[in-house]
Parts: sequence; C-alpha cells; structure tokens
Amino acid sequence: MLEPGEIFGQFPARPPQRQTCGSLQELQIHPRGIQLLCRQGCWSVQVLTPRLLRLRFSPSGEFLPRRSWDVALADEEWPPAFFELQESPTQVHLATSQVQLQIDRDPLRFSFRDPQGQVFCADLPAGLSWGSDDIRLVKSLHPAERIYGLGERAGLLNKRGRRYSHWTRDCWGYDAQSDNLYLAIPFALVLRPGLSYGLFLHCTHWSQFDLGQADPKQWAIEVRAPELDYYLIYGPTPALVLQTYTQLTGRTPLPPLWALGYQQCRWSYASAAQVLAVAKQFRQRQIPCDAIYLDIDYMRGYRVFTWDPRRFPEPAQLMAQLHEAGFRGVAIVDPGVKFDPEADYAVFDEGLAQDFFIRRADGHLFHGYVWPGKVLFPDFSCPEVRRWWGSWQRVLTQAGVDGIWNDMNEPALNDRPFGDGGQIVDIPPDAPQGPPEERTTHAEVHNLYGLLMARASREGLEQLNPARRPFVLTRSGFAGIQRWAAVWTGDNQSSWEHLEMSLPMLLNLGLSGVSFVGADIGGFGGNATPELFARWMQMGILYPLMRGHSALGTRPHEPWSFGLEVETICRQAIQLRYQLLPYLYSLFWESSQTGSPILRPLLYEFPDDPQTYEISDQALLG
Ligand code: GLC
Repeated sequence: MLEPGEIFGQFPARPPQRQTCGSLQELQIHPRGIQLLCRQGCWSVQVLTPRLLRLRFSPSGEFLPRRSWDVALADEEWPPAFFELQESPTQVHLATSQVQLQIDRDPLRFSFRDPQGQVFCADLPAGLSWGSDDIRLVKSLHPAERIYGLGERAGLLNKRGRRYSHWTRDCWGYDAQSDNLYLAIPFALVLRPGLSYGLFLHCTHWSQFDLGQADPKQWAIEVRAPELDYYLIYGPTPALVLQTYTQLTGRTPLPPLWALGYQQCRWSYASAAQVLAVAKQFRQRQIPCDAIYLDIDYMRGYRVFTWDPRRFPEPAQLMAQLHEAGFRGVAIVDPGVKFDPEADYAVFDEGLAQDFFIRRADGHLFHGYVWPGKVLFPDFSCPEVRRWWGSWQRVLTQAGVDGIWNDMNEPALNDRPFGDGGQIVDIPPDAPQGPPEERTTHAEVHNLYGLLMARASREGLEQLNPARRPFVLTRSGFAGIQRWAAVWTGDNQSSWEHLEMSLPMLLNLGLSGVSFVGADIGGFGGNATPELFARWMQMGILYPLMRGHSALGTRPHEPWSFGLEVETICRQAIQLRYQLLPYLYSLFWESSQTGSPILRPLLYEFPDDPQTYEISDQALLG
C-alpha cells in the first residue's frame, strides 16, 4: 500500500511493519488453562486432555466466540483435565501427564516435550508476527520429521518440503504439483521414530502451511484471520493422534452396507432406459454392483431438485425397478439454483422469497454461472437454509433415491456462462453470510461451503428416512467432513500417473480423519486403455469407497467395455471385494469408534520404522 505522499517522492517506501508479542507481562490461571498477557496481544492455553492443548493468540487480546459450524466438542465439553504449573524467572512450565509445555518469557514462545524429554513443535525465537491482515507463526522442524495428512493432496505421501494453502476450489486437470484442491483440511500429522503429534490449525479463513519450502528446517503457519488458533495433539503414535483429532472433529458414522459394494457412475446415464440397461448388464454378466448413479442429466435443464420429464418420466418406477434388481440409486445435487424468475421453479421462488441466497456486500444478489446458466447460491451457514435444502431432497427420496452425491460445492462457478471463455471465480470475500447471531463474510466460511452443504444433505436424509443410515458423497469439504459425508477425489484423469497418485491421496485423507474415501476408478477425464482399466479396478477394490466414473464424451468405462479379458479380471476383482465385505464392514465400525483409517499407510502401523515413511505405493487394508 502506498502511503500518502509516496507518489510525490517525498519519502521512500517503508518495509511493511510487522508486530510481535514481546515478553510475558502477566500470567493468569484459569480452571482449564492459562492466559498470557504479552507486551502486545494475549495467548490462551487450554488443557482439554492430557494429550490435547488448544493455543490461541489474539493481537487485540479479545478472542472470537465459538461458531455453530465449529469442531464437534467445545472446550467446556471436555471433562476437566489436570495440569501442573511451575514458574521460574525466565520460564513457565505447564505439564499434563503426557506433555510438557515450556513457555519462555522473553520473547514469549512455546515448545513442547514428550515424556522422554524430546522437544517438538517448538516456536522459533520471535516466531510469531502479524501485519494488518495476517498472523504468522514459525516453528522448527526436526531433521527426522516427516509430515502427512493435510486432507486431499496430490503428490507423494510425505508432504514436507512444500507449501500448501487451504482454500477449496474446483481444480479440473489437477496434477501432482497442484496446491489447492476441492477439499481443505489444515491438519498435519508429524512423525519421527518414537514421536508423533498433530497440529490442527483451527481456522476456516484462508491459511497456509510452509512445510520447509522456504527453509527446510522451518514450518511457517500463516492465517488471514483475526486470531491464530491451533490444537496441539500429542500421540506418541499416529493412531493416538488420529483418535484425539477425530474426537475433536468427529468420526465417520457407520454407512449402510450397500455403500461398501461396487458403485457405478457415468456422466451421464442420460435416460431411465440407459440406467436400466446398465443395471441389466451387471446382472446378466454376474458382476456384483450395489449402486447406480444419476449425473446431472436427470434434472430438467439442470435445475436442482427436478426430474427431466422426457428422459426420466417415471422416476419412482425407475427406482422401484432398480431396487427390484438389488441396486440403490444415488443422484447428484449441485448447490447452484437456476436463476429462473419466468418459470414456475419453486426452489428458486422459495429461496428468493425467504432470502436464502448469498448477496454481495452492497445487498444485490450474487450470481455465478454453472450448468444451468445463471445461478444463485444458498447460504448453508444458516441452519434454516440447511433445513430448507435438506427437505427439498424429498423430490429425490420420494421417488426412491437412496443416496445423495454433492458436487461443485467448493463452490465451483464461472463469471460467464460455460463455453463462453469465462474463468473460475470465487464468491466475493466480503459477501455477508451466516445467521444474524453469527453474521460474518464469505472469507470466513468459503472453506466450509461443501461441509455445510453435506451437513444439510445428511440431516435432511435423516429427517426424510429416519430408519435408514444416510449415504452422502461430497467433492468439497473441510476438517470434520467425515461426520457428514464420504469423499471422492474429484476429476482425476485416465492415466497411470493418476492411478499411482490416488493411493497417497487416499492415505493422506485417511490420516486427516476422513476414512470413507475413493478415487474415480478408471479415471474420470480421458479414455482408459484396457490394461489401465483392469489395473485400476484391481486396486479400486481396496478403496474404502469403490466407484467407477467417467466424463462426458469419453469411451464407455463399464467393466465389460474393454473386451472379455478385462471383464473377467474386473469380475474377479469385484468378487474379491465382496468376499472382503465383512472385514471391510468391521473396519468401518472400528473407524466409527476410533477414527482409524480404513486404508492405512505402512507408517500408521509401523511408526518407529523410518523405512515406511516414504512408501507411497503400498498400503494396508485395516
Ligand atoms: C464434475 C464432477 C463430475 C461430474 C460432472 C458432471 O466435473 O466432478 O464427477 O460427473 O461434474 O456433473
């Protein structure tokens, strides 16, 4: 920013001033922790369990209130945890039965010690600084440490050495170098022999982890938010870290058994007749399959919660026929509601009448462009909007649809109609969102758009079919998405690279608490070769979510589309999946109780063996 006068050359530009907290001025002891008043700003340390501490810093000294979209357990919901304090002229020590937090008084900084006295997650001297709209904290990395998790990330298993920002976005054509993908989880699991810890950055605003890119020995954490807030989770094993992390953010509820079977998708089976023909092939060829998906063409002009009267004239009959043949039906739902003032489109009319759509800061409705053309976006951060949306799913469930597939919920939108040379844009960061009691702007809830939509879907299904376990699949999400939906890795490509990449992606999702995950088998974009398809199916039987899918305009990707040899390989592979179902189902139960991944990297079971740390192409099923 130019200072007044700078343009006239009266004085040289100054480097941007960064503030630091300086020394500890006053220590206050509270039942659950301590507050540290610094020369500037204030730190709060809350002891939630002997392994879980929450650390927050506010430059203003005021802390933000809890949000309704927050973690599963509020601070006061944890049973009281015991801690001890010791003070010396230069330091304060806070100890639980598992970890010790050392606080240097001047400049104030933190470091942790495990029961063996090993230091971890230590702030650099003067590692904390802030400017007008960001806060940064720099910690040191031990040479032996490797870093995992970070939600949905392309590339190899170990994430150390690169910079990753957390901002959900549509990322057609992603590859191993891509940064932001559909789903954002600012959680890192750090491992060295004998010691593992997690750091969950509790920030839904834009944030970034530099995991040793700028300096191999440093981890820089940056938030564009009014405060810095993180949970430190001590293991010492990855399994214990995940157990606590998922106690905090929630676990994957046990899905319906059918959702663990093979699921067949395509953009699109574009008529009821096509859907039934695919179903018939599966049964005739004796290839097990439990679900068939309806992509966007079942809708009337891509209007969400409608059926195309020509191509899907009798949806209830279609679903009954599918059920009769032992299939479930899953239908896609996109968040953008067609701007449709002329037609009789109740979803648009109701949403507008009740003011459920996101507006710009100036009060005008915000619109973007997706499949139906001009669309408006429901504000899922309002509970009322979520209830409304969830109940609209009756258009699908009343016809017999069994599961909901949420797509384009980053949200994905263009600034012009598709095919018109537009670009992908975001909802403006200053657009007001949220219910009156927690009014905020899009900047705070952008990353939550997919999660809150998934919540609307799941809670809606629970209302509509109380006796059934819901199945929701989502493309976008944030930390805690596992409570609401299964996740697939979006628009991958039919290539060997993408087949290879799918494994570390799914493993890191599992290490981020998201255990019900899969990649599109065969690859979504492009045409699989027969060999690629066969290999992908053989690997795909190990994905917790096993779904084949392919894009519009690609060659058919059903298991029988590549000739007899590939069909036989696919049948055998899928049959093996079905033999494994009792085992898989038990793993899902275990995951619902402990947060453990279904598909696990070797390091999860052998955390003290550094030979496992870089293995991206092997995994354990359970
Ligand atoms: C998006 C989804 C893809 C879907 C397509 C059409 O690209 O990621 O799975 O088939 O939209 O709805």
